[in-house]
Amino acid sequence: MQRPFAMITGMGHAHGSRLVPNEMLEELMDTTDEWIVTRTGIKQRWWSEEGEYASVLAERAARNAIEEAGVTPEQIDGIIIGTVTGDMKFPSTANFLQARLGADNAFSFDLSAACSGWVYGLSLAESLIATGKGKRILVVGVEILTSMTDMSDRSTAVLFGDAAGAALLEVSDGQAGLLSTYMGSNGKLAELLWAPSGGSRFGITPVVRAAGKEHLLMKGRHVYTHAVRAMADATQQALDLAGLQPEEIDFLVPHQANIRIIQATVERFGFPQDRVIINIDRFGNTSTASIPIALDEARRQGRIKPGHKVVMTVFGGGFTWASGVIQF
Ligand code: COA
Repeated sequence: MQRPFAMITGMGHAHGSRLVPNEMLEELMDTTDEWIVTRTGIKQRWWSEEGEYASVLAERAARNAIEEAGVTPEQIDGIIIGTVTGDMKFPSTANFLQARLGADNAFSFDLSAACSGWVYGLSLAESLIATGKGKRILVVGVEILTSMTDMSDRSTAVLFGDAAGAALLEVSDGQAGLLSTYMGSNGKLAELLWAPSGGSRFGITPVVRAAGKEHLLMKGRHVYTHAVRAMADATQQALDLAGLQPEEIDFLVPHQANIRIIQATVERFGFPQDRVIINIDRFGNTSTASIPIALDEARRQGRIKPGHKVVMTVFGGGFTWASGVIQF
C-alpha cells in the first residue's frame, strides 16, 4: 500500500454559544481591545454556556463530519479525541461521544497533546488505517479551556475560546489524503504551559489553591519564542516528508494561537497572505480545535478545493508540535 493511506471524507466544527467580543472583556478585567488585537490578533471568541461540555461540542462537530462523509455511526471503527479538558477524568470523552453518536462498533480513547492533539490524532488514525486496524476513524479535537482558565489572569483569560473540530478519515482513493504527518515533543519545557493540579501529583487542595496552581499557567513570552521555532520547524518537516516545496502548497493552515506567531511562520516560508488561512480574529485560540476549524471553514467557503495541497502546523503545551500535508 502506497501513501496516501487515508483521506478526509467529512469535516465539521462547533463552538460555545456565548459570543465574547474584546469589548466585553474590557468590562470584566483590566484590558483593552487595542492591547488584545495588537498583541494577539483576537477580536472575539466563543465561550461555552452551562451544559456545553466537551462531549456536547464534540458531538455537534462529529455529526457534521459524519453527515458530509455519508456514513452511519455504526460504520465508524474508531474514535480518537485530542483534549485536555474532557468531560471528566475517566472514562474518556471519546467513550461519551461513542455513546452519544451510537457508534456501537467503534473503539474509543482520548489522547493528551494539548493544542497539537488533533494533528497527533490524525497521524495516529492514519497509521491505524494503514495497518488495517480500521477503515473509518473519527478524529476530534475539543477543548473547553474556560473550564481551567483563571479569569483573574488577564494574560491568559483573553486568549482562549471553547470549540470542537472533527474529521472522518477513511481509506484513501489513491489520490487524495495525507501526504505526510510529523509529531514532536519536549517534556523539559512542560512548565511553560501547563495545568498542574487535579492529577496524582498535585490534587486540588487548599495548599495548591493558595499557591495559585489550580488553573492553566503560562509563561507567555517563553511560549512565544519556542512556538515560532516549533511552528517553522514542523512546517519544514511536513514539506520534506511529503517531498514538496512551499510553492507547491496551495494553503498554509497554522495553529491559531497568535497572529504574530503566524506571521513569523508565513515570512519564513514566503507564503503570500492570500494562501494563509486565518480565523483567530473570530475564534481566539481554540487549542486542539483550531486547525480542524480552519480547514473546515476554508473548505466550506470554497477556498480549499479538491486537489489542493495544504500544509498544517501546530504547537502546544507539553511542549508538543505536529504538522502534515493533506491533499484534498
Ligand atoms: N491586557 C492588557 N495588558 C496585559 C494583558 C491584557 N490582556 N495581558 C498582559 N498584559 C500586560 C502585562 O501585565 C505586562 O504589563 P507590564 O509591562 O506592566 O508588566 C505587559 O502587558 C506585557 O506583558 P507580556 O506578557 O510581556 O506581553 P507579551 O507581549 O509577551 O504578550 C502574550 C503576551 C500572551 C500575548 C504573548 O506572550 C503570547 O502570545 N505568547 C504565546 C502564548 C500562546 O500562544 N499560548 C498558547 C499556546 S498554544
